[in-house]
Amino acid sequence: MVTEVINTERQPEAGTRQGAKLLREGALVAFPTETVYGLGANGLDEAAVRSIFAAKGRPSDNPLILHVSRKSDVQPLWDTVPRRARQLMDAFWPGPLTLICRRSAIVPDAVTGGLDTVAVRMPANRTAHMLIQKAGVPVAAPSANLSGRPSPTTAAHVLEDMDGRIPLILDGGPCRYGVESTVLSLCGAPTILRPGAITLEMLSAVVGEVQVAKSILAPLGQGETAASPGMKYKHYAPKAEVVVITGETQKIAKKVCEMYNLAEMQGKNVEIAATIQTKGFYKGKKCVILGDRNHPETLCATLFSSLRNIDERADLILAEGIPTDHAGLAYMNRLLRAAGFQLIEA
Ligand code: TXA
Ligand code: MG
Repeated sequence: MVTEVINTERQPEAGTRQGAKLLREGALVAFPTETVYGLGANGLDEAAVRSIFAAKGRPSDNPLILHVSRKSDVQPLWDTVPRRARQLMDAFWPGPLTLICRRSAIVPDAVTGGLDTVAVRMPANRTAHMLIQKAGVPVAAPSANLSGRPSPTTAAHVLEDMDGRIPLILDGGPCRYGVESTVLSLCGAPTILRPGAITLEMLSAVVGEVQVAKSILAPLGQGETAASPGMKYKHYAPKAEVVVITGETQKIAKKVCEMYNLAEMQGKNVEIAATIQTKGFYKGKKCVILGDRNHPETLCATLFSSLRNIDERADLILAEGIPTDHAGLAYMNRLLRAAGFQLIEA
């Protein structure tokens, strides 16, 4: 199969029209969202949804998010729309928040992995919005990476993973947030299953107390079950070893330098994932500046693309930890998974 790429910044109408046509025919289309690129299929077409799992190499019990272009489109997908869901939709949709409620009967089992709940979100990205609207169906879409690779934040990343596997990629430029949406379960007490750009603090301001699933910053213990099936799978495992160093900023920098020098003596290709606050400590060392420690959303925006890049060159990546409030929770959730939870306190 030949994979076509259409730039929707230049051709928004033609690109999304072609994408919508393919979706209605049961084919897969990759498209940009404000978080990461998605790999879309008609969410009401069981066979089309199944082909997503095949293209990604994804385990079939890991459920998918349905993407809608209007708030009222959740109605047929959920059993009921709880009051809290309405409040959150009004506050954060369109945007990077996925809500989980009890499913209705029209949602195929392939979408939910057999669960009695379904995840829905309304993306803010213009291409995504036009595509879903033109398709006229909810679009099931996981991140458009091969299972186990970091989520793609540019069309070039999607092409790296999906070339020859899907007919069309819509290229809408780099994604704004760079990490996947916040996933919030509203079955019982509101619980964050995956942190994202809509933070715990922002959610609590709208619906009061919000819980955080246990597995967000720690590996699942033996025999523990994941609140979200996605949490039990090993996420991005770079070829390179990733170690996260936490603590007070100056101590982190000192520890990173020690570890860097040692690794170099051992003949390793080592590289530092640094921040603008610490780059001065790493003169003469290979390092990439991800962003600003005081604005974790800047680190989120570059994390996945930086890991894809550095992984081409290094056998060891030394990455700085940050506090886990606000967008820091989303950042550390992804970074610790990439590191297989290898964490050193400086
Ligand atoms: O930002 C995003 O959410 C992107 C873009 C494309 O929208 N999508 C995305 O999808 O990240 P995916 O499939 O890579 O991640 C969805 C996560 C998985 O961890 C999955 O297990 C969880 O959401 N999930 C989906 N439906 C669920 C459900 N009914 N109950 C619990 N967890 C669910
Ligand atoms: Mg994913």
